[in-house]
Amino acid sequence: MELRQFFRSDLAKLSPYHIDQPDHCVKLDANESPFDLPTEIYAEISKEISSLKFHRYPDPSAGRLRTAISKMIGVDRDLIVVGNGSDELIGYIFQIFAKPDVQASFPSPTFSMYQIFAQIFGMSFTEIPLGSNFELIDETWQSHLNRYAKNLVFLAYPNNPTGNLFPEDILHKILVRSDTVLILDEAYYEFSGKSLLSRLHQQPNLIITRTFSKAYGLAGLRCGYMVAHPDVISEINKIRMPYNLNSFSQTVAMLMIKHRENIRPYIKLILEERRRIYDMLVTVDWCEPMPTDSNFILFRAQKPADLVFQKVLSHGVLIRNLNCPGLLENCLRVTIGTTEENNRFLSAITADFGEKV
Ligand SMILES: Cc1ncc(COP(=O)(O)O)c(C=O)c1O
Repeated sequence: MELRQFFRSDLAKLSPYHIDQPDHCVKLDANESPFDLPTEIYAEISKEISSLKFHRYPDPSAGRLRTAISKMIGVDRDLIVVGNGSDELIGYIFQIFAKPDVQASFPSPTFSMYQIFAQIFGMSFTEIPLGSNFELIDETWQSHLNRYAKNLVFLAYPNNPTGNLFPEDILHKILVRSDTVLILDEAYYEFSGKSLLSRLHQQPNLIITRTFSKAYGLAGLRCGYMVAHPDVISEINKIRMPYNLNSFSQTVAMLMIKHRENIRPYIKLILEERRRIYDMLVTVDWCEPMPTDSNFILFRAQKPADLVFQKVLSHGVLIRNLNCPGLLENCLRVTIGTTEENNRFLSAITADFGEKV
């Protein structure tokens, strides 16, 4: 029997999301936190575990976690949905808007999941190239959006993999369009300190997603949240998987909120290290680092990116090789790690490459 005849033909061009996981490497490739949870929090998690009932399903609406998030960000809890990382929530957003007369648009380069979800949900989409400094080009966006009756725009703020924040006035121009819903992905908010959350009440067409995977160090527990108009929330709740966030992740995310003061020093350290690495990379003659508002730095090499990637890997450090034709030609991305990890990365970058000139 030929199973392939039953599959959706439009999925043929998709391939599984590939993630390199070499052993014994310093992992500076996935924009995770380099810091494990503070020991006080581990102690409290151990206490809480004993009262969790693993044989029961979790709270289906994650009420206590949503209340904790609501208090933390000052937004009514009815405007909040939590999920298995912001990835799951971004997928739900595509699902509720995927219909033939809605055009999805996002910059290029940006977070790859927007394109993957658009393909999974069979949505028509456009990638709008960023400018040569990875900036949004206002006129290009406006004339593009003018072509469609209904637009769904995804912007990572700051953008991944470029690290920069897009200017607020351009976001504002997109947001005030009555033909556009804007999803602002604030996965790196804690490092940029910039958000459009305060606009949510005036703008029913604004959806914000955030995550506990980055600054909060919970990448392994997969927990994110979205904040949106009640009509959006009620659509999301129709398609959301029952019990989508497990009890353990709900509990730990609540503890992280309770103890969020404990992660402030980590964020401060990342910001200091970000400055240090950027300043060092600027001094390397073949290396052009991009200004960043995130916990990672994109840099362009005047050497083949594959060579740089392998060189860094040979020093036991895994970074992300983003090299592809176009804006990301010979570009690589490094996540800010601990001071020791960053030193290892920097010594790899400054080591002799042994090339014949
Ligand atoms: C811009 C952006 N959005 C969302 C995510 C996904 O985060 P989560 O772990 O919450 O699914 C990432 C992860 O790298 C990201 O870079």
